[in-house]
Amino acid sequence: MIPKYLSALLALTASALAQSTTSTTSAPPSTKTEWAPNGLGAVLDSGLNGLPHSPYTKDKWTWGTLPKFCFDKAKARGCDVYKVEAYNITYSDCNLGPTVMCRCEDAPVGIDDLATDFGKVPVKGRQWVRYVSAWAPSGDQIDPCAADGSDNNIGIYGFCNNKASVYFHEVGHSLDSWAVGNSGSAWSLGQDWRDRINLDSCVADGYAKSSYPESWAQAVTMAAYHANVQNIWTLQPTVSCMANQMNKAIDQVVNSNPLMKRVQGQTCNRIWPAEATVCMGPEAEAAGACAGISGVQAIEKAEKRTVEKRFFA
Ligand SMILES: *[C@@H]1O[C@H](CO)[C@@H](O)[C@H](O)[C@H]1NC(C)=O
Repeated sequence: MIPKYLSALLALTASALAQSTTSTTSAPPSTKTEWAPNGLGAVLDSGLNGLPHSPYTKDKWTWGTLPKFCFDKAKARGCDVYKVEAYNITYSDCNLGPTVMCRCEDAPVGIDDLATDFGKVPVKGRQWVRYVSAWAPSGDQIDPCAADGSDNNIGIYGFCNNKASVYFHEVGHSLDSWAVGNSGSAWSLGQDWRDRINLDSCVADGYAKSSYPESWAQAVTMAAYHANVQNIWTLQPTVSCMANQMNKAIDQVVNSNPLMKRVQGQTCNRIWPAEATVCMGPEAEAAGACAGISGVQAIEKAEKRTVEKRFFA
């Protein structure tokens, strides 16, 4: 099955390897049935799309500089870095700083779509994500919308309007590593989640079978639906085939800690620190748009020096 969301495998593999060597090699048993055989989005998107979003203001960065994350991502996606727009999106429920978003000019998802859909995720969950970005779909992408959540950054690839479940799912990966799990280690790779899946006869959908973290992120998306749209236990077919997973996910992100439950008056209590700002390149430098900003080459050199120092220490 083609993944609906590109997975955060790189980030997860790195943290999982540091922790345990068994976790990454297995996934939920393929014999489990699927609660949503046509994919979770087909069931949950209309309800999640209709959620209110936190109001925001938008400040576009002057052409010439970019967050290094956006610069690197543009290179990786084959987007001309001079055609990347960056914005500070400041949500009214977070006064600790903006969420920085960027998009390639050819991305089908516009900046207001991005800010609106991400703003549907309650602030206590949203605050665990650093950058949000939108890009054209890749040439070999089969699903018109794909996304990933890697290193707490969300990438949206292709036609992802009216697919709010994608944002909840990707925020789920950051919660797995930082808010429910600790210090970057995914909670869903532990024994507790495996045991729950073993006790249940189904998982959320086909994509949930690709790894334990994907199955957890899908259950968290269902928990968000439960908390903000409609009691999930009232849906047909019943979710009782995955009751052990749902009870845990609802406890983790709704009842014990309202990470995915919108509560009136909620505000952020943390953000990730800003990362480096880089110059788009020689044309921007020549246009005088990069005064006081290191060229990306200068930053890469500095990073290389740090690494070399570590080797010599
Ligand atoms: C974006 O936010 C950062 C961090 O608060 C700030 O330093 C910068 O001036 C802002 N840029 C724009 C264009 O608002």
